Amino acid sequence: MLLVILYFVLNFAGFFAFLAIWNRLPKPKPFDYTTIPGMKLNVSTAEEIPELVKMPGEKVDFEFKGNFEEIKNTTSNLRDLLDFLNTKYGPLSSFWWSTRYTVVISDEKFLVELKKFRSNLVAISPFSIGSYLHGQPKYCNSTKLNTLKTSSGSQKIHVDQNLSEDVQNRLLMTLEDVDLGEEDFRCDVPQILENLKQCKVQLKKTRKSLSRPLLVVFDTEIWVDAHPIPKFIPIIIHTSEIIKAWSDDELFPKYYAQLYWLPGFSMITEIS
Ligand SMILES: *[C@@H]1O[C@H](CO)[C@@H](O)[C@H](O)[C@H]1NC(C)=O
Ligand SMILES: *[C@@H]1O[C@H](CO)[C@@H](O)[C@H](O)[C@H]1NC(C)=O
Ligand SMILES: *[C@@H]1O[C@H](CO)[C@@H](O)[C@H](O)[C@H]1NC(C)=O
Ligand SMILES: *[C@@H]1O[C@H](CO)[C@@H](O)[C@H](O)[C@H]1NC(C)=O
Repeated sequence: MLLVILYFVLNFAGFFAFLAIWNRLPKPKPFDYTTIPGMKLNVSTAEEIPELVKMPGEKVDFEFKGNFEEIKNTTSNLRDLLDFLNTKYGPLSSFWWSTRYTVVISDEKFLVELKKFRSNLVAISPFSIGSYLHGQPKYCNSTKLNTLKTSSGSQKIHVDQNLSEDVQNRLLMTLEDVDLGEEDFRCDVPQILENLKQCKVQLKKTRKSLSRPLLVVFDTEIWVDAHPIPKFIPIIIHTSEIIKAWSDDELFPKYYAQLYWLPGFSMITEIS
Protein backbone atom coordinates (compact mmCIF):
# COMPACT_ATOMS: atom_id res chain seq x y z
CA MET A 1 0.00 0.00 0.00
CA LEU A 2 2.73 2.39 0.98
CA LEU A 3 4.50 1.64 -2.25
CA VAL A 4 1.42 2.46 -4.26
CA ILE A 5 1.04 5.83 -2.52
CA LEU A 6 4.73 6.54 -2.98
CA TYR A 7 4.39 5.66 -6.63
CA PHE A 8 1.58 8.19 -7.11
CA VAL A 9 3.36 10.89 -5.13
CA LEU A 10 6.51 10.48 -7.19
CA ASN A 11 4.50 10.49 -10.38
CA PHE A 12 2.84 13.77 -9.44
CA ALA A 13 6.12 15.29 -8.34
CA GLY A 14 7.66 14.30 -11.65
CA PHE A 15 4.77 15.86 -13.54
CA PHE A 16 5.00 19.16 -11.66
CA ALA A 17 8.77 19.29 -12.07
CA PHE A 18 8.33 18.82 -15.79
CA LEU A 19 5.57 21.46 -15.92
CA ALA A 20 7.80 23.94 -14.10
CA ILE A 21 10.60 23.38 -16.59
CA TRP A 22 8.21 23.60 -19.54
CA ASN A 23 6.82 26.92 -18.32
CA ARG A 24 10.33 28.34 -18.05
CA LEU A 25 11.40 27.26 -21.54
CA PRO A 26 11.46 30.15 -24.01
CA LYS A 27 8.62 29.55 -26.47
CA PRO A 28 9.20 30.64 -30.03
CA LYS A 29 7.08 33.56 -31.23
CA PRO A 30 4.68 32.53 -33.91
CA PHE A 31 7.29 33.18 -36.59
CA ASP A 32 4.67 32.74 -39.25
CA TYR A 33 1.61 33.25 -37.11
CA THR A 34 -0.39 33.38 -40.25
CA THR A 35 0.57 31.21 -43.16
CA ILE A 36 -0.61 33.76 -45.69
CA PRO A 37 1.83 34.12 -48.60
CA GLY A 38 3.39 37.49 -49.28
CA MET A 39 6.45 39.67 -48.92
CA LYS A 40 8.78 38.29 -46.28
CA LEU A 41 10.49 40.24 -43.54
CA ASN A 42 14.25 40.52 -43.72
CA VAL A 43 14.87 39.45 -40.10
CA SER A 44 17.28 36.88 -38.73
CA THR A 45 15.46 35.97 -35.49
CA ALA A 46 11.82 35.65 -34.51
CA GLU A 47 12.39 38.32 -31.82
CA GLU A 48 12.72 40.98 -34.53
CA ILE A 49 9.21 40.36 -35.84
CA PRO A 50 6.86 43.09 -34.62
CA GLU A 51 3.65 42.32 -32.73
CA LEU A 52 0.84 41.57 -35.15
CA VAL A 53 -1.99 43.15 -33.20
CA LYS A 54 -2.05 46.94 -33.04
CA MET A 55 -5.01 49.02 -31.95
CA PRO A 56 -6.54 51.38 -34.51
CA GLY A 57 -4.67 54.67 -34.18
CA GLU A 58 -1.54 53.05 -32.78
CA LYS A 59 1.49 54.47 -34.59
CA VAL A 60 3.98 52.25 -36.36
CA ASP A 61 7.69 52.32 -35.58
CA PHE A 62 8.96 54.36 -38.52
CA GLU A 63 12.53 53.09 -37.93
CA PHE A 64 11.37 49.64 -38.96
CA LYS A 65 10.82 49.54 -42.71
CA GLY A 66 9.19 46.10 -43.10
CA ASN A 67 8.62 45.61 -46.82
CA PHE A 68 8.41 49.33 -47.51
CA GLU A 69 11.65 49.44 -49.55
CA GLU A 70 10.44 46.59 -51.72
CA ILE A 71 7.07 48.29 -52.15
CA LYS A 72 8.79 51.52 -53.18
CA ASN A 73 10.94 49.56 -55.61
CA THR A 74 7.89 47.91 -57.12
CA THR A 75 5.53 50.83 -57.65
CA SER A 76 4.33 54.24 -56.53
CA ASN A 77 0.67 53.35 -56.62
CA LEU A 78 -1.51 51.14 -54.42
CA ARG A 79 -3.52 49.73 -57.33
CA ASP A 80 -0.32 48.56 -59.03
CA LEU A 81 0.99 47.13 -55.78
CA LEU A 82 -2.20 45.09 -55.38
CA ASP A 83 -1.92 43.83 -58.99
CA PHE A 84 1.70 42.88 -58.32
CA LEU A 85 0.84 41.00 -55.11
CA ASN A 86 -2.00 39.14 -56.80
CA THR A 87 0.22 38.09 -59.71
CA LYS A 88 3.14 37.08 -57.52
CA TYR A 89 1.45 35.56 -54.45
CA GLY A 90 -2.13 34.81 -55.50
CA PRO A 91 -5.53 36.08 -54.34
CA LEU A 92 -4.65 36.10 -50.62
CA SER A 93 -1.41 37.89 -49.81
CA SER A 94 0.27 40.08 -47.24
CA PHE A 95 2.99 42.64 -46.65
CA TRP A 96 4.51 44.58 -43.78
CA TRP A 97 4.00 48.31 -44.02
CA SER A 98 6.65 49.27 -41.48
CA THR A 99 5.53 47.40 -38.34
CA ARG A 100 1.94 47.02 -39.56
CA TYR A 101 1.00 43.64 -40.98
CA THR A 102 -1.45 44.05 -43.84
CA VAL A 103 -3.51 41.47 -45.73
CA VAL A 104 -4.83 41.75 -49.30
CA ILE A 105 -7.70 39.80 -50.84
CA SER A 106 -8.25 39.70 -54.60
CA ASP A 107 -10.97 37.08 -54.98
CA GLU A 108 -14.74 37.41 -54.72
CA LYS A 109 -15.04 34.18 -52.73
CA PHE A 110 -12.97 35.69 -49.90
CA LEU A 111 -15.40 38.62 -49.73
CA VAL A 112 -18.12 36.09 -48.98
CA GLU A 113 -15.96 34.67 -46.17
CA LEU A 114 -15.26 38.12 -44.71
CA LYS A 115 -18.94 39.02 -44.76
CA LYS A 116 -19.65 36.24 -42.24
CA PHE A 117 -17.74 38.24 -39.63
CA ARG A 118 -19.58 41.50 -40.25
CA SER A 119 -20.94 41.73 -36.70
CA ASN A 120 -17.30 42.29 -35.70
CA LEU A 121 -16.62 45.04 -38.24
CA VAL A 122 -14.95 48.15 -36.87
CA ALA A 123 -16.49 51.46 -38.01
CA ILE A 124 -13.51 52.53 -40.12
CA SER A 125 -14.01 54.29 -43.44
CA PRO A 126 -13.26 51.81 -46.28
CA PHE A 127 -11.36 54.63 -48.03
CA SER A 128 -8.92 55.37 -45.20
CA ILE A 129 -6.21 52.84 -46.15
CA GLY A 130 -3.23 55.21 -45.88
CA SER A 131 -4.65 56.95 -42.83
CA TYR A 132 -5.20 53.62 -41.05
CA LEU A 133 -1.65 52.45 -41.76
CA HIS A 134 -0.33 55.72 -40.33
CA GLY A 135 -2.69 55.50 -37.37
CA GLN A 136 -4.16 58.95 -37.97
CA PRO A 137 -6.51 59.55 -35.03
CA LYS A 138 -9.19 61.30 -37.09
CA TYR A 139 -9.96 58.08 -39.01
CA CYS A 140 -9.16 55.44 -36.38
CA ASN A 141 -11.47 54.20 -33.64
CA SER A 142 -12.22 50.66 -32.49
CA THR A 143 -15.98 51.25 -32.14
CA LYS A 144 -18.02 48.42 -33.62
CA LEU A 145 -20.05 49.28 -36.70
CA ASN A 146 -23.21 47.58 -35.44
CA THR A 147 -23.39 49.82 -32.36
CA LEU A 148 -23.92 52.87 -34.58
CA LYS A 149 -26.94 54.20 -36.41
CA THR A 150 -25.64 55.10 -39.84
CA SER A 151 -27.76 57.09 -42.22
CA SER A 152 -26.68 59.95 -44.39
CA GLY A 153 -29.52 62.25 -43.29
CA SER A 154 -30.68 65.10 -45.49
CA GLN A 155 -27.91 67.65 -44.93
CA LYS A 156 -25.29 68.23 -47.57
CA ILE A 157 -22.16 66.18 -46.91
CA HIS A 158 -18.86 67.96 -47.45
CA VAL A 159 -16.14 66.08 -49.34
CA ASP A 160 -13.11 65.27 -47.17
CA GLN A 161 -10.21 65.61 -49.60
CA ASN A 162 -7.99 63.66 -47.23
CA LEU A 163 -10.08 60.56 -47.94
CA SER A 164 -9.65 60.94 -51.70
CA GLU A 165 -7.79 58.15 -53.45
CA ASP A 166 -4.85 60.46 -54.32
CA VAL A 167 -4.22 61.59 -50.76
CA GLN A 168 -4.63 58.07 -49.35
CA ASN A 169 -2.26 56.71 -52.00
CA ARG A 170 0.33 59.34 -51.13
CA LEU A 171 0.05 58.43 -47.43
CA LEU A 172 0.60 54.77 -48.25
CA MET A 173 3.77 55.65 -50.15
CA THR A 174 5.13 57.85 -47.36
CA LEU A 175 6.90 56.18 -44.49
CA GLU A 176 7.47 59.04 -42.10
CA ASP A 177 5.39 60.68 -39.45
CA VAL A 178 3.05 63.08 -41.25
CA ASP A 179 2.18 65.90 -38.91
CA LEU A 180 -1.52 66.55 -39.06
CA GLY A 181 -1.64 68.76 -36.02
CA GLU A 182 -4.24 66.33 -34.65
CA GLU A 183 -2.40 64.99 -31.64
CA ASP A 184 -5.33 65.63 -29.32
CA PHE A 185 -7.92 64.64 -31.88
CA ARG A 186 -10.53 62.16 -30.64
CA CYS A 187 -12.38 60.19 -33.22
CA ASP A 188 -15.74 60.28 -31.40
CA VAL A 189 -19.09 59.06 -32.71
CA PRO A 190 -19.98 62.24 -34.69
CA GLN A 191 -16.55 62.10 -36.37
CA ILE A 192 -16.93 58.37 -37.16
CA LEU A 193 -20.31 59.06 -38.79
CA GLU A 194 -18.79 61.96 -40.71
CA ASN A 195 -16.06 59.60 -42.01
CA LEU A 196 -18.60 56.97 -43.03
CA LYS A 197 -20.79 59.48 -44.88
CA GLN A 198 -17.88 59.95 -47.27
CA CYS A 199 -18.98 56.71 -48.93
CA LYS A 200 -21.90 58.59 -50.41
CA VAL A 201 -19.89 61.52 -51.79
CA GLN A 202 -16.60 59.88 -52.79
CA LEU A 203 -17.98 56.99 -54.85
CA LYS A 204 -19.43 57.34 -58.34
CA LYS A 205 -21.11 54.66 -60.45
CA THR A 206 -18.12 54.48 -62.79
CA ARG A 207 -15.76 51.54 -63.19
CA LYS A 208 -12.79 53.67 -62.16
CA SER A 209 -14.47 54.83 -58.97
CA LEU A 210 -15.94 51.42 -58.09
CA SER A 211 -12.55 49.74 -58.59
CA ARG A 212 -11.00 51.81 -55.83
CA PRO A 213 -9.20 49.64 -53.21
CA LEU A 214 -11.14 49.33 -49.95
CA LEU A 215 -10.29 48.62 -46.33
CA VAL A 216 -12.01 46.47 -43.70
CA VAL A 217 -11.00 45.89 -40.08
CA PHE A 218 -12.47 43.42 -37.57
CA ASP A 219 -12.19 43.48 -33.78
CA THR A 220 -11.75 39.72 -33.48
CA GLU A 221 -9.60 37.06 -35.06
CA ILE A 222 -11.17 35.97 -38.33
CA TRP A 223 -10.51 33.26 -40.88
CA VAL A 224 -10.00 33.59 -44.62
CA ASP A 225 -9.30 30.54 -46.78
CA ALA A 226 -8.51 28.59 -43.56
CA HIS A 227 -5.86 31.15 -42.52
CA PRO A 228 -6.30 32.97 -39.20
CA ILE A 229 -6.02 36.76 -39.31
CA PRO A 230 -5.63 38.47 -35.93
CA LYS A 231 -7.94 41.30 -34.86
CA PHE A 232 -7.39 44.89 -36.09
CA ILE A 233 -5.23 43.80 -39.03
CA PRO A 234 -6.01 46.02 -42.03
CA ILE A 235 -7.48 43.91 -44.82
CA ILE A 236 -7.35 45.55 -48.24
CA ILE A 237 -9.92 44.53 -50.83
CA HIS A 238 -8.35 44.51 -54.29
CA THR A 239 -11.60 45.67 -55.85
CA SER A 240 -10.36 46.25 -59.42
CA GLU A 241 -9.43 42.57 -59.70
CA ILE A 242 -12.74 41.40 -58.23
CA ILE A 243 -14.94 43.49 -60.53
CA LYS A 244 -12.78 42.97 -63.64
CA ALA A 245 -14.99 40.24 -65.07
CA TRP A 246 -18.28 42.01 -64.38
CA SER A 247 -19.99 43.58 -67.39
CA ASP A 248 -20.98 47.25 -67.31
CA ASP A 249 -24.65 46.37 -66.94
CA GLU A 250 -24.20 44.17 -63.90
CA LEU A 251 -21.36 46.24 -62.41
CA PHE A 252 -23.19 48.33 -59.82
CA PRO A 253 -25.84 45.77 -58.79
CA LYS A 254 -23.14 43.16 -58.22
CA TYR A 255 -20.89 45.63 -56.44
CA TYR A 256 -23.67 46.53 -54.08
CA ALA A 257 -24.73 42.92 -53.54
CA GLN A 258 -21.19 41.93 -52.54
CA LEU A 259 -20.19 45.02 -50.57
CA TYR A 260 -23.32 46.57 -49.00
CA TRP A 261 -22.14 45.37 -45.55
CA LEU A 262 -19.02 47.56 -45.54
CA PRO A 263 -19.05 50.52 -43.13
CA GLY A 264 -21.04 53.36 -44.70
CA PHE A 265 -21.96 51.37 -47.80
CA SER A 266 -25.64 51.23 -46.85
CA MET A 267 -25.69 54.80 -48.19
CA ILE A 268 -24.29 54.09 -51.64
CA THR A 269 -27.61 53.11 -53.21
CA GLU A 270 -28.10 56.84 -53.80
CA ILE A 271 -24.79 57.59 -55.53
CA SER A 272 -24.86 58.81 -59.12
C1 LIG B 1 18.54 42.26 -45.16
O1 LIG B 1 19.21 42.66 -43.97
C2 LIG B 1 20.61 42.57 -44.04
C3 LIG B 1 21.18 42.90 -42.67
O2 LIG B 1 20.49 43.96 -42.05
C4 LIG B 1 21.13 43.52 -45.14
O3 LIG B 1 22.53 43.42 -45.24
C5 LIG B 1 20.49 43.12 -46.48
O4 LIG B 1 20.86 44.04 -47.49
C6 LIG B 1 18.98 43.13 -46.35
N1 LIG B 1 18.39 42.62 -47.57
C7 LIG B 1 17.42 43.28 -48.23
C8 LIG B 1 16.90 42.62 -49.46
O5 LIG B 1 16.96 44.34 -47.84
C1 LIG C 1 15.47 48.42 -53.91
O1 LIG C 1 16.17 48.85 -55.06
C2 LIG C 1 17.52 49.23 -54.79
C3 LIG C 1 18.11 49.80 -56.06
O2 LIG C 1 17.76 49.03 -57.18
C4 LIG C 1 18.28 47.99 -54.29
O3 LIG C 1 19.61 48.35 -54.00
C5 LIG C 1 17.62 47.48 -53.02
O4 LIG C 1 18.24 46.27 -52.59
C6 LIG C 1 16.14 47.21 -53.27
N1 LIG C 1 15.53 46.88 -51.99
C7 LIG C 1 14.66 45.88 -51.85
C8 LIG C 1 14.19 45.63 -50.46
O5 LIG C 1 14.25 45.22 -52.77
C1 LIG D 1 -6.00 67.06 -44.39
O1 LIG D 1 -4.68 66.87 -44.02
C2 LIG D 1 -3.94 68.06 -43.86
C3 LIG D 1 -2.53 67.69 -43.52
O2 LIG D 1 -2.03 66.74 -44.40
C4 LIG D 1 -4.54 68.89 -42.76
O3 LIG D 1 -3.83 70.11 -42.64
C5 LIG D 1 -5.97 69.17 -43.07
O4 LIG D 1 -6.57 69.83 -41.99
C6 LIG D 1 -6.72 67.88 -43.34
N1 LIG D 1 -8.05 68.18 -43.77
C7 LIG D 1 -9.11 67.63 -43.22
C8 LIG D 1 -10.41 68.01 -43.81
O5 LIG D 1 -9.02 66.84 -42.29
C1 LIG E 1 -13.73 56.18 -30.01
O1 LIG E 1 -15.08 56.53 -29.90
C2 LIG E 1 -15.59 56.48 -28.58
C3 LIG E 1 -17.08 56.76 -28.64
O2 LIG E 1 -17.35 58.08 -29.03
C4 LIG E 1 -14.84 57.49 -27.72
O3 LIG E 1 -15.30 57.43 -26.37
C5 LIG E 1 -13.36 57.19 -27.75
O4 LIG E 1 -12.63 58.16 -27.07
C6 LIG E 1 -12.87 57.13 -29.20
N1 LIG E 1 -11.49 56.69 -29.22
C7 LIG E 1 -10.53 57.38 -29.83
C8 LIG E 1 -9.18 56.76 -29.78
O5 LIG E 1 -10.71 58.44 -30.38
